[in-house]
Amino acid sequence: MPDPTAVRSMFARIAGRYDLANRLLSGGVDVWWRQRLVRAVHDAHPVSILDLATGSGDVAFALADGLPRDVRITGMDFCQPMLDEAVKKQGANPRWSSIVFRQGDGMALPLPDAGFDAMTISFGLRNMADRHKSLSEMRRVLRPGGRLFVLEFSQPYFWFRPFYYAYLKFILPAVAGIVTGDKSAYEYLCGSIESYPGRHEMCDEIRRAGFASVKATPLTFGVVALHEARA
Ligand SMILES: C[S@@+](CC[C@H](N)C(=O)[O-])C[C@H]1O[C@@H](n2cnc3c(N)ncnc32)[C@H](O)[C@@H]1O
Repeated sequence: MPDPTAVRSMFARIAGRYDLANRLLSGGVDVWWRQRLVRAVHDAHPVSILDLATGSGDVAFALADGLPRDVRITGMDFCQPMLDEAVKKQGANPRWSSIVFRQGDGMALPLPDAGFDAMTISFGLRNMADRHKSLSEMRRVLRPGGRLFVLEFSQPYFWFRPFYYAYLKFILPAVAGIVTGDKSAYEYLCGSIESYPGRHEMCDEIRRAGFASVKATPLTFGVVALHEARA
């Protein structure tokens, strides 16, 4: 399991280059993955949403763009430099001005019980030192019947694995090293993706944290999965 202090300082180091690295390394597909997440959230008609591990805020901004204006959105992350990047971007669009960005740890959320209709976490759960604790916290702050949406790397379809792992091992750290100046951060990314459970095991983990109606949709040959569940 990742060490939280190391994870926080790693994201602090790459915060300023995080968005650019995402776009380049995914060939822009990460934008489409977040759009899929927003469409699923839209269909659940939430009034209040917590975007956990919000980072530089791209999911929070996409939610604000894709949902009715009166939906309340809070973005939370434990790494202040990532939140600083989100706040810097926030001025670019008046629709984003009502988003509240707050510091908080996903394993001990500084939030009361049952305060949100929906929770999103995009490429964040993999970085939590204790996933069960974090998922249990998510359930606690969702109202009964509230909806959880987890967008995360997964294990791709079998035939695609050799190409994907070659990309992860050789191309990704090299390109990321040039873009962010921090090759080691992306070697961590590669290791954390390889050791992460596939979508069926992830559904079981989400159920064990007390969620119901759990389902997973593979995206881009299963490289990423969108998990949905009900508190
Ligand atoms: C890969 S980024 C994802 C950012 C954003 N959600 C996105 O889709 O681009 C992972 C984020 O998880 C945050 N994170 C990791 N562990 C956390 C924890 N225990 N509590 C809160 N945030 C955490 C990191 O600080 C980082 O900003």
